Amino acid sequence: MLTKRLSALDGNYKQNIEEAAKILKNGGTVAIPTETVYGLAASAYINSAVDNIFKAKGRPQDNPLIVHISNMEMLKAVTSSVPEKAFLCAERFWPGPLTMVLPKDEKIASNVCCGLKSVGVRMPADKVARDIIDLAGPLAAPSANLSGRPSPTTAQHVIDDIDGRIDAVVISNDCNVGVESTVVTFCTNPPRLLRPGAVTVEMLAEIVPDILIDPAVLSEPKKGEKVASPGMKYKHYAPNAEVYLVEGNIDTFCNFVNGKQDCLAVCFDEDLDKININKVGYGTKKDQITLAQNLFSVLREVDGFGLKTVYVHAPDKDGVGLAVYNRLIRAAAFRVISL
Ligand code: TXA
Ligand code: MG
Repeated sequence: MLTKRLSALDGNYKQNIEEAAKILKNGGTVAIPTETVYGLAASAYINSAVDNIFKAKGRPQDNPLIVHISNMEMLKAVTSSVPEKAFLCAERFWPGPLTMVLPKDEKIASNVCCGLKSVGVRMPADKVARDIIDLAGPLAAPSANLSGRPSPTTAQHVIDDIDGRIDAVVISNDCNVGVESTVVTFCTNPPRLLRPGAVTVEMLAEIVPDILIDPAVLSEPKKGEKVASPGMKYKHYAPNAEVYLVEGNIDTFCNFVNGKQDCLAVCFDEDLDKININKVGYGTKKDQITLAQNLFSVLREVDGFGLKTVYVHAPDKDGVGLAVYNRLIRAAAFRVISL
């Protein structure tokens, strides 16, 4: 199929946003910008449209989608109940990069949540996304990458992955956050962090002091183990090259990679000079927001070097660093080297 380009950056903004919404209401699939990553959207009420998301991405059938809303009325429409703490989080963090897993309303298309009784809901901050949702209603949208690839943080990434497989792509600015939203389930007591993101555990703990971190955030789920968030069991974000995540200080990291043949080092910008093999920086160690912004673009660039092995210097695990670390251990298929 021909994938229509709809620009959110030129004088035809209103017309193009209306066209995107019309395609969605008619059961089509449209890639849209959000502040985290680009999403591949379809109406949360149209089963066949949601099916086409799974097909376009090659997504496993047991990995549920997040429903995107633009106001609190829509939250009521897509859920069957909302606990007090979730309301407080909505008040504090929405619109923004937080997804809350809540009891689901039965009108949501059954394939959105893959048979679960819960639904992940998020109100994005991106203006373009919200203008489209205002017109089209609640949208189911996973990241707009081919399943297994790094999530798209630019319209070009979306085109590289799924051009010709979806009805339209809304062309907008690069995503500001760069990693997907924080996912917290309120269907357990206490609530549990399923995926770290730019709304950090430290920030959440101010409202939900007893929040637990699901073990799958930092380590590989055991074979056969039931995971709270189905997306966490898959290898993800992965270049074709074999990625290793390397933990250690700059000296041990340099000693480890220097002189290695056919390898690429992904390191902090300030350490580029100390490394004598192929290398690329992903930002400054202390600036975790920039590390998150650059992460997926760098993982997409890695294969351009044509090398077999990639060693990534691990970030600190506090703040937004936890989200970067969580994505990197999956890109590395849980191969972690501690020096
Ligand atoms: O920032 C984001 O969240 C982006 C943008 C487009 O909004 N979306 C995104 O969607 O990252 P996706 O499908 O790539 O990741 C959704 C994650 C998966 O790990 C999935 O398993 C989990 O959320 N999830 C969704 N619904 C769930 C539910 N009802 N219970 C548990 N986990 C759920
Ligand atoms: Mg994804």
